[in-house]
Amino acid sequence: MSKVRAAITGIHGYVPDYVLTNKELETMVDTTDEWITTRTGIKERHILKGEGLGTSDMAVEAVKGLLKKTNTDPGDIELVICATVSPDMVYPATANIISDKAGIKNAFSFDLNAACSGFIYALTTASKYIESGAYKKILVVGGDKMSSIVDYTDRQTCVIFGDAAGAVLLEPTEDGNGIQDAILRTDGSGRVHLHQKAGGSMRPASYETVANREHFVYQEGQAVFKFAVSNMADVSVEIMKKNDLTSDDIAWLVPHQANLRIIDATARRMGLEKEKVMINIQRYGNTTNGTIPMCLYEWEGKLKKGDNIILAAFGGGFTWGAVYLKWAYDGAK
Ligand code: UT7
Repeated sequence: MSKVRAAITGIHGYVPDYVLTNKELETMVDTTDEWITTRTGIKERHILKGEGLGTSDMAVEAVKGLLKKTNTDPGDIELVICATVSPDMVYPATANIISDKAGIKNAFSFDLNAACSGFIYALTTASKYIESGAYKKILVVGGDKMSSIVDYTDRQTCVIFGDAAGAVLLEPTEDGNGIQDAILRTDGSGRVHLHQKAGGSMRPASYETVANREHFVYQEGQAVFKFAVSNMADVSVEIMKKNDLTSDDIAWLVPHQANLRIIDATARRMGLEKEKVMINIQRYGNTTNGTIPMCLYEWEGKLKKGDNIILAAFGGGFTWGAVYLKWAYDGAK
């Protein structure tokens, strides 16, 4: 009997309706469509509007769509992991809220916070539950309502982020496909360059933290760029070497969508032509935990059983890593 691996057996994504264009941002902060396009590759992003709506409201759309298209009974799901930096509430976990809203009654669930690398951390974590033989159906959700933690008076960050969520179903397979390998890394000293100053136990909410706009994303863009560009490319090349993969062997690179220049540099280092790189940053911006599942969802129709795929991410923490998987089915479900 061959090794039990965790395979993605279905994927679904969701973006809210409202489209915030570069043109509209020009009316909000001192920026231009030209600056945003040339520095980041982003043209527009989707924003979740509506009082009382949170990350779970997008995630549950992705989960319900996924359960429907894979003909999965919510009662059969055993574990839900949600990767997010914009949970509905500090606690309980957004994964619990998603489970409740999607009618998932027989699972345990938890959130995982690894910023923009959260989805690949969660996927790798979930794969171990499957490989152990103890679990057969796991949902991995990646989603963020970044608009809830973005300062729309700060031109350095507000142009970058958008809202989205995606979800995958993981099941065991013994046909050689599924998740083959992962390399995950953390360097906590990088937190100084990218964090949210207040709202945690170190600096709880107060009039002062609100007045100082400390509940928003704080990012030193250039410093983060430098680490992102080298670490994301290094780890992607490392996972290729570790698994004896050449650029010809790779069908797709699925990079976290933070900046088109970071994506291009990673692809170049891996020796991949642009046609093999999933890029949708121009329409969604950086949706943090939503970027990788949203790419897989949009490209699902083009994917073939056995395709070698590399997922790569870099994010706050610092966190970064790469996952190597063999896609498990042909075309869109
Ligand atoms: O996903 C999690 C990890 N995050 C990332 O990977 C993000 C990595 N960083 C980046 O993608 C880029 O650093 C940014 C897109 C955030 C910024 O691009 P940059 O090329 O690094 O720009 P910069 O911060 O060096 O700023 C260059 C200039 C500055 O003006 P001066 O000092 O040269 O006069 C900024 O004030 O551009 C100015 N600037 C803007 N101008 C127009 C900064 N933001 C804007 C803006 N519109 N929105």
